[in-house]
Amino acid sequence: MNILMFDSDEKLNEAAANIIVGQIQTIPRAVLGLATGGTPVGIYEQIVRDYRRGMVSFRSVTTFNLDEYVNLPIDHPESYHSYMNAHLFSHIDLPEAQRHIPNGNAANLTEECRRYDEAIELAGQIDLQLLGLGHNGHIGFNEPAHALIKGTHIVELAEKTREANARFFDSIDDVPKQALTMGVGTILKAKKILLVVKGADKADIIREALQGSITTDVPASLLQTHPNLIVLLDSAAGGKL
Ligand code: GLP
Repeated sequence: MNILMFDSDEKLNEAAANIIVGQIQTIPRAVLGLATGGTPVGIYEQIVRDYRRGMVSFRSVTTFNLDEYVNLPIDHPESYHSYMNAHLFSHIDLPEAQRHIPNGNAANLTEECRRYDEAIELAGQIDLQLLGLGHNGHIGFNEPAHALIKGTHIVELAEKTREANARFFDSIDDVPKQALTMGVGTILKAKKILLVVKGADKADIIREALQGSITTDVPASLLQTHPNLIVLLDSAAGGKL
């Protein structure tokens, strides 16, 4: 595992964007796993700047997002579809057919999970998976549990997750109770994983994830077993390592 710590948000975002843009420069047909949440916003801004400078084209790239809320209309401002359009997709030349986000409004969610896994399988291995970290150690929406599920599945969101995400909604009652998420098995199959963690409020959980026991109670701790994990932290998040 390679851990890099940064004293400014700008440098961290630049480093993360360099890794992602570098991946596409090396493999123009790269398959990327993408994340949402507050953490990657600045990274996507930097990628869009790089794209506008002509450093990278997404024409041959394929993307798979980690997750989406269940029963939140796709055009709701807080759906991950809206998030990806606002922060990345509407600014770059990634063809629509090559962008994938689970459909949390599908009539048959089990079938949707199966379809999503099949699409990932068809695209081949994910070359680079971008990940954030939940306050309870979740990755994607894989919440702490006795057993973790390998493939895409429906998940009941933990109260802590709904509280953390309430800041994006008018009230906690508006935060969906379920989501679809890529499974930990799929995440761990990625050739390379880029975990980005920011803020003092994540200092304890990142220490547990990287230096604690490998346990399904802290889903991110399974990343310790990955042969090609890069962790980018700001000094606040890395303060207890
Ligand atoms: C969200 C997402 C995760 C994200 C995490 C942390 O709910 N499902 O993919 O990594 O929680 O989010 P943030 O970066 O806003 O702290």
